[in-house]
Amino acid sequence: MNRNDWLAARRRAAEAAFDTRYAPTYDEDDPPTSETHRRFVNLLLDRCPADGLVLDAACGTGKYFGLVLDACRRPFGVDQSAGMLARAAAKFPDVPLHKSALQDLDVGAGFDAAMCVDAMENVPPEDWPLVLERVVRAVGRGGGLYVTVECTDPQRLAAAYTEAGEQGLPVVVGEDARRGGGYHHYPALDRVRGWLRDAGVTDVLEAHSLGDHPSYSYHHFLGVVGPRAGARSGTGPPG
Ligand SMILES: C[S@@+](CC[C@H](N)C(=O)[O-])C[C@H]1O[C@@H](n2cnc3c(N)ncnc32)[C@H](O)[C@@H]1O
Repeated sequence: MNRNDWLAARRRAAEAAFDTRYAPTYDEDDPPTSETHRRFVNLLLDRCPADGLVLDAACGTGKYFGLVLDACRRPFGVDQSAGMLARAAAKFPDVPLHKSALQDLDVGAGFDAAMCVDAMENVPPEDWPLVLERVVRAVGRGGGLYVTVECTDPQRLAAAYTEAGEQGLPVVVGEDARRGGGYHHYPALDRVRGWLRDAGVTDVLEAHSLGDHPSYSYHHFLGVVGPRAGARSGTGPPG
């Protein structure tokens, strides 16, 4: 099986899974946000000017919109799942939303900060630089960026790789075709550090937090878009 075709099918499967399986009960089923997630969102907001525009991609049902609004900043949500966006819109009718894959993100350059929380596990390694480039472009120099990376047990990951290989799936190390909507990617943290550096993200603060189940945890990265990246074009986000 061709890897590009397989990845495109995985992305469609994730969209369908969030639309139909997860969206209806996401807010009831999803564990409450961890103290570390909240701390990092608040740090991002502290560094964002008053009334600043905050890109939340992928925003899902808008779990963090309340925190952003409470801090008197303006959230702008992007997600590829219409079902998740519909839930967000029902809760926050005044928050602008935009349906897009992270890989196709094209929202202009008028943002002051961006967060990508509990979503990058859906992004394959070859798309990480592209997604970061697009998010960094949206924020521009001096803007804040918060990204989480899902982590899992290396033995579990090795077993997933072996199993997928036996099924003839074109996986690379770090991918698990059994998780989420049939795809999760768990990059090595040093690789993420390299991708962030290459995207021009500097002054990176890191922390680690446990998931609600021992099979996964989260690594948190909060940085600033540095001088090498994300020149502002003055274009605003889509209305
Ligand atoms: C686990 S939810 C997290 C949502 C939200 N950030 C939160 O913390 O509640 C993952 C979200 O990523 C979205 N997603 C998955 N793959 C995506 C992609 N390639 N582009 C855009 N959104 C994607 C899903 O639709 C879903 O809403």
